[in-house]
Amino acid sequence: MACLLLGAVLVLLLLGTLSVCVPTQIPAMLAPPTQVRFKSMDYTNILHWTSPTNSSSLQYYVQWKIYGELNWLDVDDCQGIVKHQCDLSSVTSDTREWYYARVRATSLSTSSKSAWVLSPRFSPRWDTEISAPALKLNFTLQGIVVRVKPPRVLVRKMHSSLHHQIFVINNSGEEEVFEMACCSNKLTLKKLIHNAKYCLEAQTIIFPQAKTSARSSAKCFTML
Ligand SMILES: *[C@@H]1O[C@H](CO)[C@@H](O)[C@H](O)[C@H]1NC(C)=O
Ligand SMILES: *[C@@H]1O[C@H](CO)[C@@H](O)[C@H](O)[C@H]1NC(C)=O
Ligand SMILES: *[C@@H]1O[C@H](CO)[C@@H](O)[C@H](O)[C@H]1NC(C)=O
Repeated sequence: MACLLLGAVLVLLLLGTLSVCVPTQIPAMLAPPTQVRFKSMDYTNILHWTSPTNSSSLQYYVQWKIYGELNWLDVDDCQGIVKHQCDLSSVTSDTREWYYARVRATSLSTSSKSAWVLSPRFSPRWDTEISAPALKLNFTLQGIVVRVKPPRVLVRKMHSSLHHQIFVINNSGEEEVFEMACCSNKLTLKKLIHNAKYCLEAQTIIFPQAKTSARSSAKCFTML
């Protein structure tokens, strides 16, 4: 009887301890950011998210890691920031890796924190989009010198993997493709017919994945 009573007292003590501890250790939870995802153009990798509330007093903390590793690392430039994006290009620069990022909100006014929200897995190599190159034409006696100019950031990053092709589209809408040799961005078109109308478009291709950009806007002319 005494034992049972003691047990009951212990249980009461434990429950009492629990009921005191639990509420004081969980602070009011802040709603987490939503739509956390990478947007990547020409290997510039930006994490974006949406604010959980319309409150303007929120700050955000961003961490990243390589897929498969245990530890999260702070993104130095994105601790306690108020904007809704963070440039992770410098820490996600190995195009062969897979990355994760996560973000959480904190509120200065209520000193509360949200849960961390994880991005989908991100691969610079597969997920980045390539912008269309610019196209320049010079009409010379030797033919039309076509120059393709990809964005500078892309050239810096992927120099020897960049290839270009030119589409020559004639008046009846049929197109012929001219590949540019590796690392060249210049091509001379010779056998175009006089008085015929043509449009040219350019596209960048990145090897070995054969990742393609959108086509440039068309440059059209009539051969004199
Ligand atoms: C923020 O405010 C806008 C308009 O004032 C409203 O449409 C929107 O639903 C609000 N968003 C949140 C998360 O409260
Ligand atoms: C066009 O080609 C001519 C002849 O090769 C050259 O002299 C001229 O500088 C070129 N113009 C441009 C804008 O590249
Ligand atoms: C357009 O190109 C195709 C294929 O190169 C050719 O067969 C056709 O005759 C051309 N049409 C015109 C109007 O130049």
